[in-house]
Amino acid sequence: MDIRLALHAITKHYGHGDNQVAALQNISFSLAEGEFLAVQGPSGSGKSSLLNICGLIDQPSEGQYYLNGQAVEQLSVKQRCDYRRREIGFIFQRHQLLPAMTVYENIAYPLFLNKVKAKQIKQEVTLLLKKIGLDHRCNHLPKQLSGGERQRVGIARALIKRPQLVIADEPSASLDHQHAHASLMLMRELNEQQGASFILASHDAFVVKHCDRNINLLDGSLAGEALGLGIL
Ligand SMILES: Nc1ncnc2c1ncn2[C@@H]1O[C@H](COP(=O)(O)OP(=O)(O)OP(=O)(O)O)[C@@H](O)[C@H]1O
Ligand SMILES: [Mg+2]
Repeated sequence: MDIRLALHAITKHYGHGDNQVAALQNISFSLAEGEFLAVQGPSGSGKSSLLNICGLIDQPSEGQYYLNGQAVEQLSVKQRCDYRRREIGFIFQRHQLLPAMTVYENIAYPLFLNKVKAKQIKQEVTLLLKKIGLDHRCNHLPKQLSGGERQRVGIARALIKRPQLVIADEPSASLDHQHAHASLMLMRELNEQQGASFILASHDAFVVKHCDRNINLLDGSLAGEALGLGIL
């Protein structure tokens, strides 16, 4: 099994001087191709900080991050953006849908950015809208949706381009059990069909139970021996 990503002694600080917060300290673990990993930990333990680094949304203060064996700090900003656009699906804790775009357009947008043909976009978005049970809402704006409906749109937007790495920050936080289960099945489908790797931050015991492995954060540090496959 190939290593999809590896973190070595990652540290993340926010702010300066008296206001400095040490959000992550000395984090090392790796994730294999096709692996489904849960990140657990209390509120404020650093889960979102860790996921933002793994998803190339933020950079670590110290330490090395390797994606498919490539040191991320050696990539240019453009290379990082290109990689994120093509290969990473990110499900945000607060959904972060584009407010002026409809449900359909929000889900279609990653395919549009990746220059997929209009006919194929229509087919794929229509199919996924049905799978998440929101085809009747396709022309609505995010502000017209419930929190759980927004979350499902955020999940569909992350999965539509079939990325090799999906990062999901509390993906079931606004969902009832039935929709949480359906969303997990969609993720597993992508995982099984093409070996996509997943990192899910979650408090939800049901989600964690469906993951292959879990790691625990406590005050920004990994609790216990959770290193899995080792470094590189
Ligand atoms: N942009 C920021 N500036 C300053 N401090 C931050 C920033 N983002 C996060 N923090 C701090 O870093 C620590 C980790 O925050 P983070 O959001 O990663 O935790 P979390 O585990 O995702 O929490 P939750 O379960 O509530 O989402 C917290 O103490 C938080 O206050
Ligand atoms: Mg968080």
